[in-house]
Amino acid sequence: MSEVQAVDNMVTISIDGTEYRAKEGEYILNAARANDVFIPAICYLTRCSPTLACRLCLVEADGKQVYACNAKVKEGMEITVDTPDILAERRAMMEVYDVNHPLQCGVCDQSGECELQNYTLELQVDSQSYSIQDTVRESTDWSSVLHYDAGLCIVCERCTTVCKDMIGDAAIKTVKRGGEALDKAWKDNMPKDAYSMWNKLQKSVIAPSNGTDSTNCSDCGECVAVCPVGALVSKDFVYSSNAWDLKRIPAVSAHSSDGFAIYYETKATSIEDRREKIFRVTNEWNFVSLDGSARFGYDFENRDVSKDEEAFKSAVEAVKKAESIRFNALISNEEALMLQTLKEKTGVKLYNPEVRAFQKFLKLYSDASGASLYNSSTNDAMKCDFVVSVGGALRNDSPGLKYAFNNIQKMNKGAGMYFHPVGDKLIPTFGKTVEMFTHKAGLEEAALYLLLDLFADEAKLPADVKEYIASFKSSETKTITEKVMKTVKEMVIDEESGEEKEVSKKVAEQVEKEITVDTNGLIDLLGGNSEKFMAGFDKMMKKKEKFVLMVGEDYYGHEKADNLAKLIVLLEQTANFEVVMNPPKSNALGVALICDLDDEAIGYTVGYNENGDFKLSALGTGDLDMPAFNQQEGTVTTLSKRVVPTNVALDYDGYVLNDVLSEVMATPKLTIDWTAHLPTSKGFKAVEFDSLVNSFDNAGNDNRGYALEVTTTEVEAPSVEKFDEKTALEGDIVYRCNPPRQFNDFSDKAHQIFEAFGLYASATRAEALGSKVEVVFENGSIVVDVITDDKMEGDIVALSDFKSAENVYELFGESRYKTVTIREV
Ligand code: SF4
Ligand code: SF4
Ligand code: FES
Repeated sequence: MSEVQAVDNMVTISIDGTEYRAKEGEYILNAARANDVFIPAICYLTRCSPTLACRLCLVEADGKQVYACNAKVKEGMEITVDTPDILAERRAMMEVYDVNHPLQCGVCDQSGECELQNYTLELQVDSQSYSIQDTVRESTDWSSVLHYDAGLCIVCERCTTVCKDMIGDAAIKTVKRGGEALDKAWKDNMPKDAYSMWNKLQKSVIAPSNGTDSTNCSDCGECVAVCPVGALVSKDFVYSSNAWDLKRIPAVSAHSSDGFAIYYETKATSIEDRREKIFRVTNEWNFVSLDGSARFGYDFENRDVSKDEEAFKSAVEAVKKAESIRFNALISNEEALMLQTLKEKTGVKLYNPEVRAFQKFLKLYSDASGASLYNSSTNDAMKCDFVVSVGGALRNDSPGLKYAFNNIQKMNKGAGMYFHPVGDKLIPTFGKTVEMFTHKAGLEEAALYLLLDLFADEAKLPADVKEYIASFKSSETKTITEKVMKTVKEMVIDEESGEEKEVSKKVAEQVEKEITVDTNGLIDLLGGNSEKFMAGFDKMMKKKEKFVLMVGEDYYGHEKADNLAKLIVLLEQTANFEVVMNPPKSNALGVALICDLDDEAIGYTVGYNENGDFKLSALGTGDLDMPAFNQQEGTVTTLSKRVVPTNVALDYDGYVLNDVLSEVMATPKLTIDWTAHLPTSKGFKAVEFDSLVNSFDNAGNDNRGYALEVTTTEVEAPSVEKFDEKTALEGDIVYRCNPPRQFNDFSDKAHQIFEAFGLYASATRAEALGSKVEVVFENGSIVVDVITDDKMEGDIVALSDFKSAENVYELFGESRYKTVTIREV
C-alpha cells in the first residue's frame, strides 16, 4: 500500500490488492459499493443504522475480521473480502438461512429477484448441514396494503430498520417467535457467526410494534421494498406477476413535490386483454424512500382514449376564446411552458391557486436574499445535525422532508425543532432531542424570532432586532428549597473501647436558596415552557454544526409573508441556516418558475384537470381527454431543484395539450421538443429531453436530469418588522391540509389509496364533532364527513383539498387557516 495521505476527506484503501479512494469515516461496505466492488451483505441499508443481523458482510481489514457494514475505512486500510474462514462462515450462514425456508420459489412473489436465492447461488450452497424442527408461522395482513408471510421471513430486520431510521413510524419490530431452542452442540460444531445468527433467527419474527394485529402506520410500503425475500409483499401484488415478466419504466412520482424516482412496472393486463397495465411501483430503496402515494397511487391513467375529433375542435375553439386557463401543479415543465407561451401570445390569464402563493413567496425570498432560489435540498438536509421545520404539517405535506427530519435524528445524532399549530404525536418520537411547539396560527413570525434568538450570531443582528428580541426576556429571582448534604460531628461511644469519640457524618438538610430564572416570552408565546426548554437546549446544541430550516406551505399565503421571507433571510445571514422550501404539490416549483401566474381567473375559463367552462381532463371526466401523468413524457422540477425526466408507462391514443395549442400558435411537434426551451433565465438548461440521464450512481448520487442553476446578486440586508401577537387566530380553526398519501384527484383515483376526502380531527375532537359537519366560511360552506386522525393533537381540524371538484381553494383563499363555524348536520 502506498503512503497516500488523506486529501479532501478522502482516504486510500485497498480491497483485494487494488487501491481505491473512499470518503473518510465511511463504512467499508459503502466505500466498496461506491467503487463498484461487491461485498456480500443482506441486512444493511444505506442511510440507516447497521443492525448486524445477517453477518454476511464479514471481511478482513488489516488482519482482523470485521463487519463491512459497521467498520469504517481508515487511511491505508487493507481489506480482503474472501478468506477461507470467511467463506466458511458465509456458506454456513446461507445454509442456516435455507433451513426450513419454504420451498415455494415456483409461486413466491419474490422469485427472480430474491436475495436468498441469489446468495444461495453466489455462495454455492448445494447441500445442507443443519436442521431443526420448524414452528408454525402464520401469514397475516398488517394493513390494507401490507401482507406478511412469517414463514418466508429471514429476520434480516431491514423492514424494521427502514421504518424506524428512515420513515419514522417505527411501526414494526422483532418479537419472540417461540421457536425450538438450538441444540447447544451446534455452538461448538459450526462457524460462530453463523451460529449466533441462527440462534437469533430461530427465536424471532416481525410484528406490529403496538402489540395489535395492525401497524396503523403511514402505509408507505418501504418495508415491502426492502424485504429481500417474499415475506413482505403488497397485498395487491400477491400472486399477480412474476418479476421477470415486468417491464421497468423509469419515472417520477406524480404526487408530492419530492419528485421521487420510481419505476412503473408493467405488462399486459391478462392473456385476453393485451393492454399494458402497471402492476406495481418499485424504487432504488438504498437511495430513495417513497411514500404511500408514490408507491401505491399509480393506476390513475386515462384508459381507452381515442382521438375524438369533434371534442378536439371544441377544445381548440375553447382555447381560442379563453380569457383564463385554470390548472394545477400536476403538469410537466413542458406543458407549463406551453401555457406560458400561450399567455405571451394571447394574454390569457393563467390561474393556478395551488402554486400562486408559493410563486409570490419565492419572489419575496429572492428580493430579500438576492438568491434566485433557496440554497438547500432534501439530500443536503439529510446531512445536517440540527433541523427546524416551520410552516408545514410535515407528515402530511412532505414525505421526503419528514423522512429527512427523522433520519437526521437517527443517523446524525441530530436535534430538531418543529413549529406548527397542529400537534402531531409522531414528530416527538423521532428523537430524544426533538422539541415540538404547538403554537397558535398567526404566530409564525414569533417562531422565526425565537430561532434568531437561539441561533443567530448577535454581532450580526441589526440593533433593532436585538432590542426587540430582548424585550421578550425577563429575569426574576425565586426562592427555592434545595436538599444539601452537610457534614456534622457528633460524639459517640466506641463499642470496643467504651470511650467517647468524635465522628463525622453526612446528613441531608433542606435549605432555601435564591436563584435567577430567565424567562423567554417567545418560547411561552409559542406554547413552550421557557424554563424547561432552556434547561435542555445546551444538550440539543451539543456538537451541532450544520443547521437546516424546512419551510412549508403555511408561510406562502400568509398575511405577513413578506416579513416571514425577510426573517428567513436574516436567519440564513446571521445563523448559518440553510433553507429548503416545500413546494405545495407535484411540480409547483417548475410552474412557479416557468409561468407568469395571475391572482384570479376571469371570464371564459378552460380548466386543465380543474373546473372550467371547458374542461381538458386526464381524469376522463372532461370535454376533451388528456393523458394522465403516467402516460406522458416530459420533465418536472423537484423540491431539491432538480429537473428530472419522466417516461410513458402506459399507452395513450388521444390528443395531448401540445396538439390543442398547435392549432392556436406555433408549437414544436412533440411535447418533449419543448424541454430544451425551458427558460434558462430561471435556471433551466437548454438540454434536449433525450439527453437527460435518469439514474443514481453506486455512491447514491442522484444524477437524474440536471440541477437548476441558482444565481445570487448583492442586496441590502433585509429590514424586518415586529409582529403583532393579537393577529393570532382564535375560535374554531380549520386548516387546509390533506391526509398523508393524498395529494390530488389522481392519487384519489388509485385503488390502493384509501384516505377519504373529509375533515380530519384528533380523536377527541372527532368524537366531539360527530360524524358529519358543515364547515361555514365567510364566503361559503362545505358539508363533510369527520375522520379521525389519531396522530393529530389539539382542536384544529384539517380540511382536504385534493378533490378539485370541491373547490376548497376558493373557500380558503391563499391562507391555509381560517376561523370558521362548525355545525353538526
Ligand atoms: S419481513 Fe423481510 S425485511 Fe423484514 S425481517 Fe423478514 S425478511 Fe427481513
Ligand atoms: S408501510 Fe411504511 S410505515 Fe408501515 S410498517 Fe412498512 S415501512 Fe413502516
Ligand atoms: S450487511 Fe453487515 S451484518 Fe448484515
